[in-house]
Amino acid sequence: MVVSNKQKVILIGDGAVGSAYAFALVNQGIGHELGIIDVDTARTEGDALDLRHALPFLPPKKIYSASYTDCADADLICITAGTAQKPGETRLDLVSRNLSILKTIVDAVMATGFKGIFLIASNPVDILTYATLKWSGLPSEQVIGSGTSLDTARLRQTLAEKINVEAGSVHGYVLGEHGDTGFIAWSNIRIGNLPIEKWLPDFTDEAKEEFRIAVRDAAYSIIAKKGSTSYGVASALARITRAVFNNENAVLPVSAYMDGSHYGISDIYLGTPAVIGRSGISLVAEVPLNRKEQEEMEHSAATLKAILKDSIV
Ligand code: 2OP
Repeated sequence: MVVSNKQKVILIGDGAVGSAYAFALVNQGIGHELGIIDVDTARTEGDALDLRHALPFLPPKKIYSASYTDCADADLICITAGTAQKPGETRLDLVSRNLSILKTIVDAVMATGFKGIFLIASNPVDILTYATLKWSGLPSEQVIGSGTSLDTARLRQTLAEKINVEAGSVHGYVLGEHGDTGFIAWSNIRIGNLPIEKWLPDFTDEAKEEFRIAVRDAAYSIIAKKGSTSYGVASALARITRAVFNNENAVLPVSAYMDGSHYGISDIYLGTPAVIGRSGISLVAEVPLNRKEQEEMEHSAATLKAILKDSIV
């Protein structure tokens, strides 16, 4: 068990995603303590004060503008810091800028003796989560990336809207990279325990491909319209945090370390369902894939490994 009863979160990065995550934690009563770190300390002070003014309506929580010394006894550190995509940029375009920001952060955190769980959301998230594992020296169970949690939410919601059922009844995953090579594992989709063909008998391969592209490019269209995405990923991060603090052993799609015993892939982080509880990732819940899906998983892994080969990790 890694997490204490203190349930202390330190959020590093108070931009659009970080502040939405902080608000989700406060609103949903997740964790007992929330410290916020950002290079813009006026912003963290303002956000902490603003969030404290929400507390009379919500479960109590200690909320403050934090510094790195506060990381020493944190249970979970969520990193959302870094540059975000501008219209036209892919997540992988951010790699060198965000790796150097991350290195500074992970070094500062580890210098405090932090022993808890890292939850990484900055992009490209699979690469940055891998770098956090290497630089922190923590066990891979304790280093989690938001991975395909958001892509999977987009899949479930978009399919739910198409079929006119609630998204909670749609079961299935986007796997692989949180990015352009991530893919829908169609062979495993169930809606109310029935295969997709029962709901959409005329869902052709072409229609599936169009659907896949719409889910894949959802972030690009939101970024083109409002400059950034925040609420979806913040809700996914809050869900993962809740699973840790409540020791839920919830099966959630995250970016998890591949050690060679799943999907035949090793030494990379990829989006897959995994069991999340107080010690972080206790098990990778490997999805059985057909041959095409297995190739897609391997393509995601190869794309990420090629990026890592040329970077500073
Ligand atoms: C998203 O998918 C940009 O990674 C972010 O919304």
